[in-house]
Amino acid sequence: MKFGIIGAGTIGSILSKKLVNTGHDVKIADARGIEHLERKEFAGTPVPVEDVITNIEILIISLPSKALPSIRNIIDQVGEEVIIVDTSNYYPFRDDKNEEIENGMVESVWVSNQLGRPTIKAFNNLLAYTLENEGTPEGTIGRIAIAIAGNDVSQKQIIMDVVNQLGFDTVDGGSLSDSWRQQPGTPAFCTELTKEELTKALKKANKEKAPFLRDKVIEMLSNPNLNPLSNKDIVNMNRDIYNS
Ligand SMILES: NC(=O)c1ccc[n+]([C@@H]2O[C@H](COP(=O)([O-])OP(=O)(O)OC[C@H]3O[C@@H](n4cnc5c(N)ncnc54)[C@H](OP(=O)(O)O)[C@@H]3O)[C@@H](O)[C@H]2O)c1
Repeated sequence: MKFGIIGAGTIGSILSKKLVNTGHDVKIADARGIEHLERKEFAGTPVPVEDVITNIEILIISLPSKALPSIRNIIDQVGEEVIIVDTSNYYPFRDDKNEEIENGMVESVWVSNQLGRPTIKAFNNLLAYTLENEGTPEGTIGRIAIAIAGNDVSQKQIIMDVVNQLGFDTVDGGSLSDSWRQQPGTPAFCTELTKEELTKALKKANKEKAPFLRDKVIEMLSNPNLNPLSNKDIVNMNRDIYNS
């Protein structure tokens, strides 16, 4: 399929390589100018952001959530038929305090409102290391699963098929309004679960507790006495804290 990616950071770059490796056409852009792509490691064709949205079927946006309102003018020009996938998570320490989200608006509902388009939430509940290194062929025992949320069932199915090609099982996370169940601070978030485990984890999520648990993990990740932490250490910490 034909993909555009906005954001050549950690996740955007990993996705570009995995998509190219599985035979997809990929164009990639930086929202602030093509010069920002210099010295970045990605696969696919680097293009200005105005060009990344043309002649594509799927647009992946992989930016910090506070940057999303700045690309509204670009998103307004994206063809109706293009599926828009958002990988973002909201972190107040990085994204500044967002009053609407702090007051309970589901992160992806806020994103969709900012972009003025329906979005599919995907790739947000795997650590970058897991996304890059832990994919396995379909049918592998213990295969890790990703939650995918969105209101359009057929768009969601297309993204689920792509995720399967990239090495992960999928669980339908419901509509965008349900997607708080895969936000930071929940048992489904970056805990490397199988399809069955992830299905149960999504049901266990506690909306009120999630921001507190998210911030607890961030505090531990920023504690120099606890670092460096391996991917496994982080997954185990997430499992402990997000299930507490
Ligand atoms: N890292 C993970 O493990 C992980 C996992 C799942 C989901 N996510 C989420 O996915 C999103 C991307 O994560 P990431 O780890 O790839 O982040 P990242 O490495 O920090 O990359 C962010 C990208 O956004 C661009 N950017 C930053 N500030 C911007 C602004 N104000 N305007 C326009 N572009 C801006 C950066 O461009 P420059 O390089 O030019 O600054 C870079 O291309 C985030 O919302 C994150 O929470 C991350």
